[in-house]
Amino acid sequence: MKKQAVILAAGEGTRMKSALPKVLHRVAGIPLLNHVINHATQVGVEDLLVVVGHGAESVSRELPEKAKTVLQAEQKGTGHAVICAMDQLDPEALILILSGDAPLISAETLEKFIETHEKGNYAATVLSARLEDPTGYGRILRNEETCSLMGIIEEKDATPWQKSIQEINSGTYCFKGKALLDVLPKLSQDNVQQEYYLTDTLSLLKKDDLAVGVCCIDNAEEIMAVNTRVQLAQVEGIFRKRINHRHMMNGVTMLNPQNTYIDHDVVIGKDTVIEPGAMIECGTIIGENCHIGQNSRISDSFIESGVTITNSTITSSRVGEGTTIGPYAYLRPGSCIGKRVRIGDFVEVKNSIIGDDSRSAHLAYIGDAKIGKNVNVGCGVVFVNYDGKEKHQTTIGNNVFIGSNANLVAPVTIGDHAFVAAGSTITEDVPPEALAIARSRQSNKEEWNKEEQ
Ligand code: UD1
Ligand code: CA
Repeated sequence: MKKQAVILAAGEGTRMKSALPKVLHRVAGIPLLNHVINHATQVGVEDLLVVVGHGAESVSRELPEKAKTVLQAEQKGTGHAVICAMDQLDPEALILILSGDAPLISAETLEKFIETHEKGNYAATVLSARLEDPTGYGRILRNEETCSLMGIIEEKDATPWQKSIQEINSGTYCFKGKALLDVLPKLSQDNVQQEYYLTDTLSLLKKDDLAVGVCCIDNAEEIMAVNTRVQLAQVEGIFRKRINHRHMMNGVTMLNPQNTYIDHDVVIGKDTVIEPGAMIECGTIIGENCHIGQNSRISDSFIESGVTITNSTITSSRVGEGTTIGPYAYLRPGSCIGKRVRIGDFVEVKNSIIGDDSRSAHLAYIGDAKIGKNVNVGCGVVFVNYDGKEKHQTTIGNNVFIGSNANLVAPVTIGDHAFVAAGSTITEDVPPEALAIARSRQSNKEEWNKEEQ
């Protein structure tokens, strides 16, 4: 059966106290809403509708192409949000309704939930959980004898007895398309908040003698929604824990998983060791047998196997097999480092290609360069790539030696096997195998500082 999903994401999220719409707050590297979209996609939803309202433009900008938006200009409740999507809903489809602020419901749980809905042949099914402290949630009302679902009561409308019920509504539902389309026009605003409650659809369907189901999950952690920054941090913690668990089960060593931050889509090979404080961000792939040292930040980068990274920052770059980076190195976007290269302390590389077996062991700036194999870049070398208006390229061949404290003023080319003397400021091309010296000669003033005796 065709599956459609409606994701509710129009609310303001007042309690976040933020200029950013709630669903755009990030956990594990991507917005809350995008996690929900990923999970829906994983259970085979073909048609994704996102109801947007507050910050509609910025929310729409973050959405993947496959998601369609529906505008709920004025937020009159969760029922009203679905009413806004009505003309896009297919009566023949299974319709999954999800909250954009509840990113922890896994694809496996959604799958089981959909199965319960289909097996029971229900018109509607709600996902519930039991909480020690159910404060703030809608409560599940069951028939005392048969235990079957009677409806959902919002906390603000509940009697003290109803408030003592610990089974709560997660805000996730499955509907038969036709049943949902038939019942939505029957919703009213007859409640304390004067909103159209989506939750009322269940008791209304029941009144029409249609079967409604409830699927109660054991792991209450999954239904947690984000309403405050405190909950945001809790959800973040749960995500990180899940992600780290997965990597450790796949053969990655973490010295302290509580203090290791890996975004949701990162791939890491086995026998790689990660020290505390490492942040490995979206789009990164790390090979096997790597060592990622404390406080390193790696973002959107491809790290081949056997690489050692110590206390360094790497963004949108590639590092070849067996290379060592750091401590305190900075690889900026567009850096492509070869195999067995050494990039040492306080070396910054930007938009440069460095060939296999080359070295820059300390204190250098390498920008807009193409460096061949087995090149030595001495201490304090600066690739002078910017003339105040434009950036220029430096090209260095294979087996070149650049002495310490040289300046290479781009555009400039240095041939294979050339040698640049320490302290030179190179402004002209150096032919292969040549020695370039570009500095004033030393003169010694004899006895210049001799003391009178
Ligand atoms: C809702 C449920 C409650 C459930 C809880 C689970 C209703 C009436 N209540 O309450 O039973 O226990 O979720 O977290 O449904 N939204 C819109 N448009 C609106 C209102 C809300 O898109 O007009 C979106 C919000 O952005 C949010 C989601 O719907 O993503 C839930 O809204 P929220 O106001 O947080 O509902 P709760 O009061 O928490
Ligand atoms: Ca909520």
